[in-house]
Amino acid sequence: MKWYRIPVADINNPFVTKIKAGNQTICVVGYNGDIFAVSAMCPHQGFDLSKGWCENGKIICPLHGNSFDLQTGKGSGEFLKTYAVKKDGGTAYVGVRSIWEDITKLFNK
Ligand code: FES
Repeated sequence: MKWYRIPVADINNPFVTKIKAGNQTICVVGYNGDIFAVSAMCPHQGFDLSKGWCENGKIICPLHGNSFDLQTGKGSGEFLKTYAVKKDGGTAYVGVRSIWEDITKLFNK
C-alpha cells in the first residue's frame, strides 16, 4: 500500500477536500475528530463529492442529495470505495493499494 499525505493545515478541524493519490481521486473528510477517505466521484451521476457536506456520519452529494456512510461507503443501493487512513502526529495519510495487491488478495481468500 502506498501512503499519500493529506494536505490540510489542521487535521483536527472539520474539512472536506479532494486529493489525487496515484490514479485515484479521493474525497477526504475530517469529521467529528476522525478522518475518512472515499472515492470523490458520486456513483449516481459522477458529481464531485468533495463539494458536498457531512451530516450524521454521511457525506451528502450536493447534486441530488444522495448520502453515503463515511465508514462503509454505503449509500441507498450504491457504494463508494473507501480507503485506509492513518495519522502520524499532526499529519494524516490516505492508503491506496495497487491493483496487484487487490488481485493477490482475491486469490489468497
Ligand atoms: S450525482 Fe450525486 S446524487 Fe446524483
